[in-house]
Amino acid sequence: MPETPIATTGRVAVVTGAGRGIGAAVAARLAADGHAVAVIDLREQDTEQTVDAIRAAGGEALGVGADVSDAAAVEQAVSRIAAELGAPTILVNNAGILRDNLLFKMSETDWDAVMGVHLRGAFLMSREVQAHQVKEEWGRIINLSSTSALGNRGQANYAAAKAGIQGFTKTLAIELGRYNVTVNAIAPGFIQTDMTRATAERVGVPFEDFVAHAAKEIPVRRAGNPEDIAAAASFFAREEASFVSGQVLYVAGGPKA
Ligand SMILES: NC(=O)c1ccc[n+]([C@@H]2O[C@H](COP(=O)([O-])OP(=O)(O)OC[C@H]3O[C@@H](n4cnc5c(N)ncnc54)[C@H](O)[C@@H]3O)[C@@H](O)[C@H]2O)c1
Repeated sequence: MPETPIATTGRVAVVTGAGRGIGAAVAARLAADGHAVAVIDLREQDTEQTVDAIRAAGGEALGVGADVSDAAAVEQAVSRIAAELGAPTILVNNAGILRDNLLFKMSETDWDAVMGVHLRGAFLMSREVQAHQVKEEWGRIINLSSTSALGNRGQANYAAAKAGIQGFTKTLAIELGRYNVTVNAIAPGFIQTDMTRATAERVGVPFEDFVAHAAKEIPVRRAGNPEDIAAAASFFAREEASFVSGQVLYVAGGPKA
C-alpha cells in the first residue's frame, strides 16, 4: 500500500486577479491550506483586503501589483515573489475581464482586451512560473475556464478565450508532466461576484433577480459562491491530486459538458 501523502504545507502559491471575487477566495483557501500566497491584482492597493484577511487568519501573504498581460510586469512580479516568499510552485491563473457584445457590435479593442488578460495573461504567468516548478520538480497550474467555453450569446471573445484556456491546460499538462507539474482547469458556472453583478447592471436587472433567475436553471437550485471554486482549486493543489492532470472540472451545480 502506498503511504498516505503528507499534508500540503510550505509551498508558495500565486493567485492572479485575487483582489476580489473568486481569486480572493482561492487565495484565502490556499493560505488556510498552509501555503504562502502571493496575491496579484492590477495595482498593489487592490490586493490589500485579501492580504489583510489572510494575515488576520494567521496566514502568510504578499500583495503584488501587476497586469498579467504585460510581459515585463509579469517577469518583475514573479521574481519579486521568488525573492520575498520563495520559489512559486502553485499558480492559479484567475485574472479575468468581460467585454460582452454581440458579434456585429464587438470592437477589435474588446476582442483583444479579453484575449490579452485571459490567454496572454495565463501564458505569460505560466511561462514565468514553470521555470521555478521545473527547477523544484513539483508544481500545480490551475486555470480558470468557464461554462461559457461551451458557447454563450454575447460572449464570442470570452467564450473563445475560455475554450482556448482548455487547450492551453491540456497542452501544458502534456509538456510539464515529466517535471511532476500537473495542469488542470476549473470551469465555473454562475458565481456571485462583481463580474456577474456587472453583467446584471449591463442588462438592467437587479442583481438579486438576476441571481434568482440563474438559480432556477441550475440543477442544485442555487448560484455558486467563490468558495465553491476555492474548494476545487484546493483539491487540484494537493499532493494527493498528483495523478490528476489535463482535466477540466465544471463547477456549475450540474453537468455542463
Ligand atoms: N463569476 C463568474 O460567474 C465566473 C464564471 C466562470 C468563470 N469565471 C472566471 O473566474 C475568474 C474570476 O472571476 P470573478 O468573477 O472573480 O471576477 P471579478 O471581476 O470579480 O475579479 C477579477 C479580478 O481580476 C483582476 N484583473 C483583471 N484584469 C487583470 C489583469 N490584466 N491583471 C491582473 N489582474 C486583473 C480584477 O482587477 C479583479 O480583481 C475570471 O477568470 C472569470 O472569467 C467567473
